[in-house]
This record gives sequence, C-alpha cells and structure tokens, in this order.
Amino acid sequence: MCGSPKRLYRGNVKISAMRILGIESSCDETAAAVVADGRSILSSVVASQIPVHARFGGVVPELASREHLRSIITVVDEALEQAGASLDALDAIAVTQGPGLVGSLLIGLGVAKSLALAHQKPLIGINHLEAHIMAAFLSQKPPSFPLVALVVSGGHTNLYLVRDYLSMELLGQTRDDAAGEAFDKVAKVMGLGYPGGVVIDKLASKGNPDAVAFTRPMIGSETLDFSFSGLKTAVINHLREHPLSEGPDSQAAADLAASFQEAIVDVLTFKTIQAAERHGVTEIALAGGVAANSRLRRKIGAEARAKGMNLNAPDVSLCTDNAVMVAALGYHRLQAGLIEGLELDAYSRAVTPWMAAHQ
Ligand code: KG4
Ligand code: ZN
Repeated sequence: MCGSPKRLYRGNVKISAMRILGIESSCDETAAAVVADGRSILSSVVASQIPVHARFGGVVPELASREHLRSIITVVDEALEQAGASLDALDAIAVTQGPGLVGSLLIGLGVAKSLALAHQKPLIGINHLEAHIMAAFLSQKPPSFPLVALVVSGGHTNLYLVRDYLSMELLGQTRDDAAGEAFDKVAKVMGLGYPGGVVIDKLASKGNPDAVAFTRPMIGSETLDFSFSGLKTAVINHLREHPLSEGPDSQAAADLAASFQEAIVDVLTFKTIQAAERHGVTEIALAGGVAANSRLRRKIGAEARAKGMNLNAPDVSLCTDNAVMVAALGYHRLQAGLIEGLELDAYSRAVTPWMAAHQ
C-alpha cells in the first residue's frame, strides 16, 4: 500500500538499517516491537493478560479483545520510545493477520492500518505461526536452510519444512488438542492454575517421569500428525482413581506432572526427529510457548546431537507471544515486496494462501 521501503545502499555501502514496527494481538498478549534489519531488537514490549483470564482457566475471547483495545496504543508508544524511533522514521509496519482470535486480531490490524495510512508506510501481513519460527533466527548463531521447525503453542502443534523465510510447508499437525492446550487443561484438573505449562514444567522437575505409564499417542503412526486429547483424558482418569489427597504440592502431583510431561515430550521429540530424517534435514528449530519447556529443550537437544543434527531453541523470552518475531518476519516479506493494501483482513484458522496452494 502506502510508501515504499527506503533506499538502504549507496553503491555497495549500506547507509541505514531497515526498521520495522511489529504488532501482535492474536491471543492474550498485546505486543509491539521495533527490529532493525530483521535481527537487531531495538525494543520489545509485551502486555500480558494472564491475570484477566486466570480465574476462568483459559482465554476468554471477549475479554481479550477489550484488553487489547485498552492497552495497544500505550504498548506501541512504549515500543517506539524504547527504540528511539518516530513513526516517520520506520520503514514498514508488520502486523499479525492470523491465525488467532479474530476479535483480538482486528484490534492489531486496525491500529497497524491506521498508522500505515497516516504515516504513508508499507503494511505487511504476518502469519503468527511462521513468525514464531523466526524466533530461532534471532539467536547468535541462526540456523541454515532447509530446516524442520516444531511450532508448539497453546493453539497449535505444527511441524514445518522451512525452505526459506517465505516458504514453510506444513508436514504434520495435531488432530485435536495442541500440546500447550494439553498442558493447560491438565494443570487445571490438577488444580495448578493457569497458564499451566510453566507450572507443570517446574513441578515436573521434582517428579519421577516413570511413575505413571502413559501411552505415547500416535508415536507408531506413519503420519507426522499428533493427538493429545487422549493423554489429557488418561490424566483425568488417573486422577479419578488416585486423587491428589495431599494437594498440588505433593510428591504424587510432581510424579504425575513429570509422567504427563515426559509422554508429550517423547512424542514431540520422536516426530520432529523423524520429520528431519525423512526430509534429509540436519537443522531443527523449536518455536512457540511450549518451546520454553525445559524438558523438551533438553530431550530434543540430546536426540538431535545423537543423530548429528543441530537444535536451534530460541531464547525463552522469544518463545511465547511477542512482536519481535512479527517485525523480524516483516523484514523478509518487505524485502520480497510482499506489501498489503488496507483491505488486509484477519483469519482465525492456520491456512495461509501459500499453504492452501501447496497442500
Ligand atoms: O505461543 P504462546 O505464547 O501462545 C499461543 O500462540 O498459543 O503459547 C502459550 C502456551 C500455553 O499453553 C502455555 O501453557 C505454554 O505455551 N507454555 C509452556 C511453557 N511455557 C509456556 N508449556 C510447557 N512448558 C513451559 N515452560
Ligand atoms: Zn503464539
């Protein structure tokens, strides 16, 4: 749409960095960030809504939209101020388009469109899951292409073959609950609070992962798909027979958390390594909120090393939702001239035009 990227080079000499404002509002985090040249983080602001949703044990879409509306202007202002960048000095505005809660996405899109129009900046639409993968490229030693990426969040468990920044092919996905959703639901039935991933991760470190023998769902299947709802039900059934009579701080709770976590981690690790082997790829990336899980990082790291593969796990702060990843992918889309008009719309499900064309 409006404007065009600034000239970066005079002859062969780089004269200025390309600065992109990223805006993220797909779920329960309102975030904005300024990133230079797709790699240097100039600012990152995340307003979490966890306290708002905690008492409901999950994200309430209506409340999420209201919270985004309440905080988004402050969050964007803060990101610009921390970066020492004015809106006019930016090269583009990148915004999460989907998948996510449509009411929430529309808040970010509305703000991004208004700013792009008022300041004559290119507008870039970003797929939230592809953006998560970008977090792995922000480390000291970024992965090389091609790579297999496991995106594990509250809403998705997807395996991708990533050929470059703009070409990510979906290899497998969950058929029911996402891994993060399973963590959150199990935490809820165990009385551990919300969101459950971090709490189970911490509790599991004190437990015995072999205490309860849970099956590893779909580990023997040919596909690279996942299924976690049966595992969640198995935990509920176990709790019915063995209630946590000594409470959620007991050894029994730690053992259950560790056994459940180990089952999920085993499946995620096995399928990711299998995807890499099938596609002859030696680079693996982890992404999404569950990528912060300490057991997953250790186990998949060890398996990858044993197979001569290299694991790229992003900094924990970049695993959960943020706008740095949005601005970083925005840079590559801008370079490729993928600029959108003001008709840019939100989508709730994980089907991008690229995926639709390649499945
Ligand atoms: O990517 P994200 O911030 O939001 C979505 O796009 O969904 O992921 C949030 C999910 C939640 O389900 C949360 O419980 C999970 O990531 N999570 C974890 C950990 N930290 C966050 N799951 C397991 N272990 C963790 N350390
Ligand atoms: Zn996410």
